Amino acid sequence: MSANDMRRPSVKIHQTAELACEAVAELIAGRIRREPSVTLGLATGATPRMVYKSLIGRSDVSWRAVRCFNLDEYVGLAPDHPASFAYYMRDLLFDHIDIDPGQVHIPDGSASDIEAAASAYEEKIAENGGIALQLLGIGRNGHIGFNEPGSAHDSRTREVLLTQSTIDANRRDFPEGETPPATALTMGIGTILEAREIVLLATGSAKAEALAAALQGPVSLDCPASALWRHGAVSVFCDEAAAEKLNIETLKGRGSASAAA
Ligand code: GLP
Repeated sequence: MSANDMRRPSVKIHQTAELACEAVAELIAGRIRREPSVTLGLATGATPRMVYKSLIGRSDVSWRAVRCFNLDEYVGLAPDHPASFAYYMRDLLFDHIDIDPGQVHIPDGSASDIEAAASAYEEKIAENGGIALQLLGIGRNGHIGFNEPGSAHDSRTREVLLTQSTIDANRRDFPEGETPPATALTMGIGTILEAREIVLLATGSAKAEALAAALQGPVSLDCPASALWRHGAVSVFCDEAAAEKLNIETLKGRGSASAAA
């Protein structure tokens, strides 16, 4: 399948990471205001930190009826481990908003039966009517969630083996001397593509290559984010540093890039 056969994701380039994150926070806040019981898909990593910081400062947004599903979690980490994504989410978002803890869903990486936890997660998403708006970051090798290169584009929530580059990139979150887990539980690419709308946020020059591969390269298993071409409603928010390898004129010619103030 050629990328040109599909609907191109829209690309919004902001001058700075702060502005890109603010725009994404505004989009999420607007969505919650319009649809108070919206089901959101949320991401972790360094990239969305400022999005969450902006969201918790908004007293005019009530999370009381919002439902949240996170993309992924390390296998073998308890939710109170400081490097777990459960901890990250509590620390940066959930402890600061009025969300119902019963509406917060994070894959259970410490389950004794990981396969059963994966199926239960898929069922929970379906029970909640599917994800309306999914926030994504992107790994340096183009991974989305923890779907590493080679992941099938119709893959479902499952345990995956992390690549060395992903383990190295995330080592910063672990206490000195502690070896990060080698596997994680992640929504599959197929699960992600079922979200009705997807927002991909990429900031910093370390993401420039992955973003260019996702938006300008072929749709292939080598770049998991290229699977987003299979979706009709993807918006990419990035800063100028992450956009530095994009061919802006080509993207604009195809009606997909816009510079934001
Ligand atoms: C992590 C997460 C992804 C995240 C990506 C980029 O491994 N599993 O969901 O988007 O890597 O992380 P960062 O934003 O820290 O660069």
